[in-house]
Amino acid sequence: MKTLIIGAHGQIGYQFCTLAAAADFPIRAMIRDAGQSEDFEKIGVETVVADLEQDFSAAFEGCDQVVFTAGSGPNTGPDKTLLVDLYGAVRSIELSEELGIGRFIMVSAMRAEQPMQAPEKLRPYMAAKYAADVLLRRSRLEYVILKPGRLTDEPPTGRITTDPEAVAHNTISRGNVAQVLLAVATNRALRHREHLLLDGGEPVETVFS
Ligand SMILES: NC(=O)c1ccc[n+]([C@@H]2O[C@H](COP(=O)([O-])OP(=O)(O)OC[C@H]3O[C@@H](n4cnc5c(N)ncnc54)[C@H](OP(=O)(O)O)[C@@H]3O)[C@@H](O)[C@H]2O)c1
Repeated sequence: MKTLIIGAHGQIGYQFCTLAAAADFPIRAMIRDAGQSEDFEKIGVETVVADLEQDFSAAFEGCDQVVFTAGSGPNTGPDKTLLVDLYGAVRSIELSEELGIGRFIMVSAMRAEQPMQAPEKLRPYMAAKYAADVLLRRSRLEYVILKPGRLTDEPPTGRITTDPEAVAHNTISRGNVAQVLLAVATNRALRHREHLLLDGGEPVETVFS
C-alpha cells in the first residue's frame, strides 16, 4: 500500500518525496499541474494529477495513508485560505474516512489551537488549520498532527525539539519537517499524537522512535 502526499510539489512536500524515494518508502505524489511530473520522474516517484478544489477522490486509490502538506501560501487571499487550507483539508479527511484510509498525517501550524491569538492577518489561516485539526481529532482515522513553527529554508540539521521552552526561537527548517514526516509516516505505532515542531537538539529518529 502507498502513502498519498497532498501538496507533494510544495517545498516541504518535495523534500519529503525525495527522502521517501531514497528510503524505498512507497508513495504517490498528488500534483495539480501535469508539468510537475517530470520533477517526480527524476526521483522515481509516481504522480497523480488532482486539485483540492475539484473532485480528487481518485487520487486515494491503492493508498492506506495520507500526508497533508498542501497550503494556499502567503500570496493568495482569504478565498484560497477557505478553499485550500480549510475545504481542501476537510475534504481530504472526509474522503480518507469514506475510502478506508487508515492513517492521516497533518501538517498543521504552531498555535493553530488559538487562532485569535495570531496576528490579525494570519487569523483566517490559523482558523482554517484549527478547524481541520478539530475534524481530524474527531474522525475515525489514526492521526498525527504536526505543528511546525515558522518555516525557514535553512539546511536541515536532522535535530528538532517538540518543547517550546527548550529553545529561544520559533522556527524550523522545511527540511527538518520533511525528515519528521518520513519518521512519522514509517512508524505506524504513532497514533493520536500531536507535536509542536521547532529546530532543536534531539535527533528526529529519537523523538519519533
Ligand atoms: N509558512 C509557514 O511558516 C508555515 C508554518 C507552519 C505550517 N505551515 C504549513 O506547512 C505546509 C507546507 O508548507 P510549504 O512551505 O511546503 O508550502 P508550499 O511550498 O506553498 O506548498 C504548498 C503546496 O500545496 C499545493 N496546493 C495549493 N493549492 C492546491 C490545490 N488547490 N490542490 C492541490 N494542491 C494545492 C501547492 O501546489 P503547487 O505546487 O501547484 O502550487 C504546493 O505544492 C502548509 O500546510 C502550510 O500551511 C506553514
